[in-house]
Amino acid sequence: MEKQISAEFEKRFGGTGTFYASAGRINLIGEHTDYNGGFVFPGAIDKVIMTEIRQNDLDKVRVYSIDIDDYAEFGLNEEDAPQQSWARYIFGVCREVIKRGGVVKGFDAVFAGNVPLGAGLSSSAALESCFAFALNDMFNGNTIDKFELARIGQSTEHNYCGVNCGIMDQFASVFGKKGQLMRLDCRSMEYEYYPFNPEGYELVLVDSVVKHELADSPYNKRRQSCERVAKRLGVETLRDATMEMLDEVKGDITAEDYFRAKFVIEEKQRVLDVCDALNRGDYDTVGERMYETHRGLSKDYEVSCEELDYLNDIARECGVTGSRIMGGGFGGCTINLVKNELRDKFVETACRKFNERYGHEPKIYDVVISDGARRV
Ligand code: GLA
Repeated sequence: MEKQISAEFEKRFGGTGTFYASAGRINLIGEHTDYNGGFVFPGAIDKVIMTEIRQNDLDKVRVYSIDIDDYAEFGLNEEDAPQQSWARYIFGVCREVIKRGGVVKGFDAVFAGNVPLGAGLSSSAALESCFAFALNDMFNGNTIDKFELARIGQSTEHNYCGVNCGIMDQFASVFGKKGQLMRLDCRSMEYEYYPFNPEGYELVLVDSVVKHELADSPYNKRRQSCERVAKRLGVETLRDATMEMLDEVKGDITAEDYFRAKFVIEEKQRVLDVCDALNRGDYDTVGERMYETHRGLSKDYEVSCEELDYLNDIARECGVTGSRIMGGGFGGCTINLVKNELRDKFVETACRKFNERYGHEPKIYDVVISDGARRV
């Protein structure tokens, strides 16, 4: 990838620049909890977005995406937003750095990546944090702290891409460390690294390669449900809610909102259970909680789809220890905790059965927990 980028950079802009990269992420457990002030348990992976970049003396950004084979050019003022949606991520990052009083000057960049798109592995957070890291290093002497870099990515989603996301993806992408998962408390923003080396097991992602583009931004709607219930309960976020509190207002809120909040309250506890279980090396409990999360995401939070439910069923039939939808939902992949000796049989069965039913095979990714944003 580096070679390809540098050849393209040389061809378009001449000479060389500096290389930066950032990573996609997995999340072991704790879904849709980040914007509810709960816990998440992500880690960065060995799938990255990489850019070569160099200051130009123009007042604009010129950037080429190798994978999309598209070029964009834009200024750095609010009214200069580019048309292409991929370029808006980079424009948004520039704007968010500037809004925070940081320096951004014109630059040339070429980038490429191997984070699968639409798979729930946060290619967008990887892109945002790659550029946020680069701008911090190139123009700001690394004075912007890491949490702020993550927030720059998150605000880019909010203000330039229409997704009212939480902080998990950008956090994972910025803070990720080789071999370590991280438990983040999204209320206090305290975090802890957890070495993750489950002896005898591996993590396998099964990508359904389906992306259900649902109208009306279902992600933002889930978030609104949670916020409505929190407001009704008089708490800042559902982090401070219990099932008892929720049951007390059951008659005053819609059934839909009730089940959304129920999922979030239960999921909060599951993350804590998984942390304890990991400390004991009790992978059966980790796996059970993952299946419970899947059930909740499917039945109560309703962010699954037929294909993902089917992959979950196959995992269970194959004796996979834990399996669930990962990320925002509505397509993408399942994350599976599987015993080494079962891995091949599971992958083979999942590919065959899925293909029989949907006419195409899912994609399989073995996960290696790796470093997040960095200068290469
Ligand atoms: C997406 C969002 C995250 C998080 C997950 C669900 O990936 O970007 O902030 O809410 O969905 O856990």
